[in-house]
Amino acid sequence: MRRKLAAGNWKMHGLLADLSQISALNADHPDPATDILICPPTTLIVPACAAINGGAVQIGAQDCHARASGAFTGDLSAVMLKDAGATAVIVGHSERRDAHEESSEDVRAKSKAAHAAGLTAIICLGESLAQREAANTLDIIAGQLSISVPDTAVAANTVIAYEPCWAIGSGLTPTPAQIGEVHDFIRARLTTRFGEAEANGMRLLYGGSVKPGNAAEIFEVSNVDGALVGGASLKAEDFTPIINALK
Ligand code: G3P
Repeated sequence: MRRKLAAGNWKMHGLLADLSQISALNADHPDPATDILICPPTTLIVPACAAINGGAVQIGAQDCHARASGAFTGDLSAVMLKDAGATAVIVGHSERRDAHEESSEDVRAKSKAAHAAGLTAIICLGESLAQREAANTLDIIAGQLSISVPDTAVAANTVIAYEPCWAIGSGLTPTPAQIGEVHDFIRARLTTRFGEAEANGMRLLYGGSVKPGNAAEIFEVSNVDGALVGGASLKAEDFTPIINALK
């Protein structure tokens, strides 16, 4: 059975003073039944790993460059993130696909770099509101999934996060049936491509306005193995009920 995963994406929030939230989360969950990952701003990865000090919470990153090193001013490689103590990296988040014009080809290259560096790639997919309203969701997911996920993907190094763009930060979520349709579709496509063993081992996360009040209902949905949480992961007191809802 797949071990559940509660992942927090802090986005561009978090200063050194906010490491107390990570320390509190680590103290609150000394031996969690699920994996717990926090992806803070890169500036906090090293001190966050020190604050965890071998505890159960893992620290990840929110993006990486596709190359291991080179003349790429301002960029960070997966090798550097691993060296800093990260265990995973989010790639292809819709906020980067949109604001940085990242293509699914870019996401595949970043995911391959993450795998080569020994990081788990959390590969994000999701449709826009217009695509959802035009009933194009599964076509969009199919295209993003087939291109974004590299051939280096296996259950141990790849997590897929379904994040409908219109649900991120909006307080809106798809219905459980809509979430289940997409997650079942993703599982089926992964099975066709990678075989049952690897596909069944890959965690599929839902992301987009997951809160303490709706987490349990979302986690009941088939093929939902956890969540990628934004706002509600910033404070331990908000993230803990979501973690506890994962059985
Ligand atoms: O990556 C997770 C994020 O996009 C979801 O944000 O604030 O809607 O939980 P939020």
